[in-house]
Amino acid sequence: MWIALIVINPLAQFSAQNHLPYTDAFAGSSMRALVTGGAGFIGSHLIDRLIGRGDEVVVLDNFSSGHATFLSHHEPSGLLTVVNGDICNPEDVAAAMSLNIDCVFHLAANPDIRLGTRITNTDLNQGTVATYNILEAMRIAGVKQIAFASSSVVYGEDAPLPTPENHGPCMPISLYGASKQAGEGLISSWVGTFGLQAWIFRFANIIGARGTHGVIFDFIHKLKNDPTRLEVLGNGLQEKSYMEVGDCVDAILHVMASTNEPLNLYNLGSHDTASVRRIAEIVVEVTGCHDAKIEYTGGDRGWAGDIPRARLAIEKMLESGFDVSMNSEEAIRHTASVLLEEIGLEETT
Ligand SMILES: NC(=O)c1ccc[n+]([C@@H]2O[C@H](COP(=O)([O-])OP(=O)(O)OC[C@H]3O[C@@H](n4cnc5c(N)ncnc54)[C@H](O)[C@@H]3O)[C@@H](O)[C@H]2O)c1
Repeated sequence: MWIALIVINPLAQFSAQNHLPYTDAFAGSSMRALVTGGAGFIGSHLIDRLIGRGDEVVVLDNFSSGHATFLSHHEPSGLLTVVNGDICNPEDVAAAMSLNIDCVFHLAANPDIRLGTRITNTDLNQGTVATYNILEAMRIAGVKQIAFASSSVVYGEDAPLPTPENHGPCMPISLYGASKQAGEGLISSWVGTFGLQAWIFRFANIIGARGTHGVIFDFIHKLKNDPTRLEVLGNGLQEKSYMEVGDCVDAILHVMASTNEPLNLYNLGSHDTASVRRIAEIVVEVTGCHDAKIEYTGGDRGWAGDIPRARLAIEKMLESGFDVSMNSEEAIRHTASVLLEEIGLEETT
């Protein structure tokens, strides 16, 4: 069911309850999940899994970078409700939260890390303050469980590699990273003060079908505009870990089903890394733009606030019993193929 935004003032008061494991809490019956940012890249894949197993899903999204087409295949199921609203608006959040929600998956955020180099309050408002809005609406409506999409960038650039979850202090170097760290802190405080149960996931670079941003997406668009030349930001030696989006959402649901601490913190990534130089080579190969000259702008990073080398320690995820199906290079090749199909190179070939 697709609905317009209805504003409801939920009056139910939050009351402390014992924590239930995610699986036990919803055992034998499907749950109703609120997915903020559900029309986005990762959110829409998560919803494929949730609806696929029979859960009801409410999406709260303002469609700033999300697309209705990522969700339209679920319309016939009757399990999907879409609230077109903004997480920066407490009334929109309260309206969505009043729809009998069992668990919140909080994914909505500004996805563009680079934006913070030009506009300094976007991450503050759409990250930090918006996460407060979600938590406060949960407290008022009595919703007890949240999963949060955080990021490897909270570790900053001086962390040991691979970086384990217990590394600290975390010193992010981007405004986006600061907002993720602030979101984590707020969630932890709601766990400690109001008895919330939370799963915080620090993602590596997530790639795959329906991607609308990121290095592979950018490279394909650049080659579409000019198949003879591919400009790479930095010296190409930036080295990061890449995780396929299906692996990411499977890991989220697996970890939530197999852990039951009040606060559960997990890195989600793959076993290895790939350089930007290698990604450029793979994209040139997959697109068939073999004459493209790869040119580097120079410098050790793509932009101010970028972290040149990142790799997450994933032992905790592996110990939970989940392993990825693709390494970084396999995920990159797969993503280049599916995005090429989605974007097309019609104008250039
Ligand atoms: N993609 C990655 O590699 C990656 C890595 C680390 C963390 N994350 C985090 O995962 C989450 C999902 O990222 P994604 O890659 O799917 O990005 P995305 O841009 O595809 O999805 C974000 C969604 O949130 C929505 N949104 C943005 N601002 C909103 C607002 N104010 N109100 C309501 N909806 C809003 C957008 O319309 C979009 O549908 C984000 O929190 C992101 O920071 C992503």
